[in-house]
Amino acid sequence: MKYSWKIDNFDSEVFGFKVAKVETIDSEDSPEIIDKIVGDLIMDLNKERVGYATYRVKFNDFPIIQALQRSGFVLVDGLISLGINISEVSIAESVGEIREATRSDLDKLKQMTSGLYLKSRVSNDPLISKERADKFYTKWIENSLLGEAADSVLVWEESDKILGYLTLQKKGQIPLVGVAPQARGKGIAKKLIKASLRKFGEWKVEDITIETQMGNIAALRAYQDCGFKVVNSFLTLRWAKDD
Ligand SMILES: CC(C)(COP(=O)(O)OP(=O)(O)OC[C@H]1O[C@@H](n2cnc3c(N)ncnc32)[C@H](O)[C@@H]1OP(=O)(O)O)[C@@H](O)C(=O)NCCC(=O)NCCS
Repeated sequence: MKYSWKIDNFDSEVFGFKVAKVETIDSEDSPEIIDKIVGDLIMDLNKERVGYATYRVKFNDFPIIQALQRSGFVLVDGLISLGINISEVSIAESVGEIREATRSDLDKLKQMTSGLYLKSRVSNDPLISKERADKFYTKWIENSLLGEAADSVLVWEESDKILGYLTLQKKGQIPLVGVAPQARGKGIAKKLIKASLRKFGEWKVEDITIETQMGNIAALRAYQDCGFKVVNSFLTLRWAKDD
């Protein structure tokens, strides 16, 4: 098989149609053969009644990117991946405003998340309504708090108000970081990231990665300031049945 894909249960549930995540496409052949592989993939998706599919490809895999575009895939996102080995940084002191979230924070976290992520593969795609894009993130933070999408959630709280949060996975990933608009630019994201490094240290997890959109300069500055280095870059393209 020259390609592989699987159903993305989370996306399918949130978007209300069958969504696939393409995992691999063989890129070592000529453009004609890659076109044939992508054509076979699309036939397969149609046969299985998939309505929407995404593929994350290395930013410079141009033969695949061009073949996907020739077949109707469109670019919806660009991501920068940054990494850090915590043995290389000094771990900061704990900060009073930061604590681990509990289930009783769910409503506040969902409320804060609504409308927060305005630039992503989901919010950039005109085929996904604003309501669905919003639900994607509010469901994601809910699943994080319930332990399904994260192993811990840290919050920044002032006078009983949650103004920022970050989610951590023991596999060494920080999937979500968010700070309320009125609290931005004060170093809250950086302090949450530094606190997460302490938590990873407790878990004995040394290699941490974090991703953000290429144009998310505030996030990129915050992550680099905490010692993260750029390690990779990807584009996300998507195909939709009736697009
Ligand atoms: C990205 C985000 C988490 C940053 O939170 P924050 O608490 O404001 O971040 P910090 O104050 O710790 O640091 C942000 C850095 O970017 C800078 N910055 C903020 N807005 C900026 C902008 N529009 N352009 C350039 N730099 C910007 C800040 O000055 C700071 O850098 P500096 O210390 O070198 O001056 C916040 O903007 C946010 O929640 N955005 C929406 C959700 C999101 O995009 N999350 C990240 C992707 S998962």
